Amino acid sequence: MTDQEAYAHLRKLDADAAEIVSRYPQSGSALLPLLHLVQSEEGYVSPAGIEYCADKLGLSTAEVSAVSTFYTMYKRRPVGDYHVGVCTNTLCAVLGGDAIFATLKDHLGVGNDETTEDGRLTLEHIECNAACDYAPVMTVNWEFMDDMTPDKAVRLVDELRAGKDVLSTRGPALCTFKQAERILAGFEDPREGAVAGGGAAGHASLAGLLVSQGRTPTGPAGTTEASE
Ligand code: FES
Repeated sequence: MTDQEAYAHLRKLDADAAEIVSRYPQSGSALLPLLHLVQSEEGYVSPAGIEYCADKLGLSTAEVSAVSTFYTMYKRRPVGDYHVGVCTNTLCAVLGGDAIFATLKDHLGVGNDETTEDGRLTLEHIECNAACDYAPVMTVNWEFMDDMTPDKAVRLVDELRAGKDVLSTRGPALCTFKQAERILAGFEDPREGAVAGGGAAGHASLAGLLVSQGRTPTGPAGTTEASE
């Protein structure tokens, strides 16, 4: 089988791939979004997906492999409809991340980086997402789920498996892994509530700012300073 036959299922991405490549002065710079585009079709980056990126960008398959295996957002095995990440880095771990991960492993009957038999959920422990002020945090297809508990985590995965519409705690509706990958490739985010350009800082971040300044946060949201 030739290289091109191996990735025949990806040829439908040719127009989108060309658009991505046209955004960069050097084609090699398009590799990261192109890998996301491949994941939007395959649900992971297969050997054929690596060939596809290499051919589109004039790179060797070794170069594409090196990048796709370095970054943890690129997957080597098919991911379920929902990639469920649980932060088990230090702060989240001690505030409940380890308990959430253990609970979900039992509840779903899968280990780390494994997918449920129905193909709906892939569970993975993830490193710090720079959202420690909302610890313990989870992600679903990279959208944040803040201030989680084992009970909330079980409810979340049950709703996702049941096909219910679920909102991330920061607004946007959760979409499938493949849909999220297309957005990460640089195409329009059609979801209601998706934030363009970032929103305002949340209550936990503002409370942390006050503490870092030696001030005492008060109030239900912790965003106002105690009067002297
Ligand atoms: S330790 Fe979990 S977001 Fe930083």
